Amino acid sequence: MGTRQSTGTIDAMNEPQKICVIGGSGYVGLVTGLGLSEIGHEVINVDIDRVKVDQLKAGKSPIYESGIDLVLRRNLNNGRLQFSTDLQSSVKRSRVVFITVGTPSLKNGQIDLSQVIEVANQLSQCLNEYRIIVIKSTVPVGTTELIKDILTEKAQQDCFDIVSNPEFLREGNALKDFFFPSRIVLGGDSDTALSIMKSIYEPIIERNIFVDEIENPQRESTPVPVIQTDIASAQIIKYASNAFLATRISFINEISGICERVNADIKKVSEGMGYDSRIGHSYLEAGLGFGGPCLEKDLNALISTVNQEDYETRLLQAVLDRNDKQVISVVNKVEKLLGIDICHRVIAVFGLTFKPETNDLRNSLAVRVINKLHELGAVIHSYDPVVKDEILSVNQNVKPCDSAYSAAMGAHAILILTGWQEFLALDYKQIHSRMSNPIIIDSRNLLTASDMIEMGFTYAGMGTNALK
Ligand code: UGA
Repeated sequence: MGTRQSTGTIDAMNEPQKICVIGGSGYVGLVTGLGLSEIGHEVINVDIDRVKVDQLKAGKSPIYESGIDLVLRRNLNNGRLQFSTDLQSSVKRSRVVFITVGTPSLKNGQIDLSQVIEVANQLSQCLNEYRIIVIKSTVPVGTTELIKDILTEKAQQDCFDIVSNPEFLREGNALKDFFFPSRIVLGGDSDTALSIMKSIYEPIIERNIFVDEIENPQRESTPVPVIQTDIASAQIIKYASNAFLATRISFINEISGICERVNADIKKVSEGMGYDSRIGHSYLEAGLGFGGPCLEKDLNALISTVNQEDYETRLLQAVLDRNDKQVISVVNKVEKLLGIDICHRVIAVFGLTFKPETNDLRNSLAVRVINKLHELGAVIHSYDPVVKDEILSVNQNVKPCDSAYSAAMGAHAILILTGWQEFLALDYKQIHSRMSNPIIIDSRNLLTASDMIEMGFTYAGMGTNALK
């Protein structure tokens, strides 16, 4: 990689840095700002959403993440973390500026960069001294050049360096992933900027971290790997990582369909495969498929990047297609078990979020299944540990219930759509007694088939021989 010496002058390499996080009340921005202040930096999180900023100033997180309110209040109280809606004055007070704004999908799969462009326009008006601009939002290759062009329209070229520093934060585990990452990726061409970035993350890289509110892993003796590279490679590391996780999920779901047809058990198949250290256990849980704001969006973005370059990506497209088929296959199971016409049948849906330990409904496959069942005339009762009436904003016909027991009342089937651990602790005998028809369709393979069958349920999971 070619590196160049930055024209910027940053004196104190290992001192706390003054940092501004733009998009600071969003998922990535909030976790980044909290994490950076927790390890000692002075951070201002900026956001245009005044309601969220006020809520955060009052110590209340708009996102659901274990331990987050406590870490937030500690860093507000010790003065290292502030929230603001004033981008320009916050940037002026900072040396390092993280961009973490949203990059949603357009209808054609390409990425909507309007928020990033708006931020770049604003930054161009306040770069009077050297700043490091860190792109944490997931953006396609080429975006950095676009940002650079916008900045240099008004600011001096030597007033900034750009670094790509993709995030690998899983919702529900975001704080843990921030403090104990598998790797830190830094893409850029300025030696100065890259070494300042390393110094910012030093306590994390050296594993000198202990955070009361989250489960701290066994301390490892080796530092966190830092991958220092060019900007395009850093961005592709992010896209390829998400695409690979999605590929594993679609792969195991495809094998799960084969298991159903040959009387094999996908849970045992995944377990048996995972002990091969070349394969590993993670992302081999068969089920409804991958939802959420990232995996599908990133696959689509990767496909549309190279489609413009006249390069076929059949494998990536097949990963998406398999995921769509999982939704259909769950709906088909409901129809099969209830007898094709499900019109006016009551279905109690357990779980609405795209995965457990989050309140995020974005691109939740549970919602897609519910919409499909509603189209077929089913009456939907829902229960989710964290999402209640919010489901009405995506489908007004659902009846949100306060407990799994009330959702099960009069139901012709229960459909588990999110693998919340809480569902394992329910009293299924009581649930059985409330239902009109004791059928459970477990699209996350959460429950133990034999236990359910013993209690008198008809039970169907995904890809196991007991569940046809
Ligand atoms: C994902 C990546 O895991 C993060 O590393 C990345 O930083 C993040 O996207 C992002 O780009 O911001 P996340 O969207 O929080 O994180 O979700 P995951 O935990 O990866 O799960 C995605 C979906 O796959 C969920 O619907 C989950 O239920 C499903 N899944 C996961 C399976 O169906 N099977 C599995 O074995 C694992």
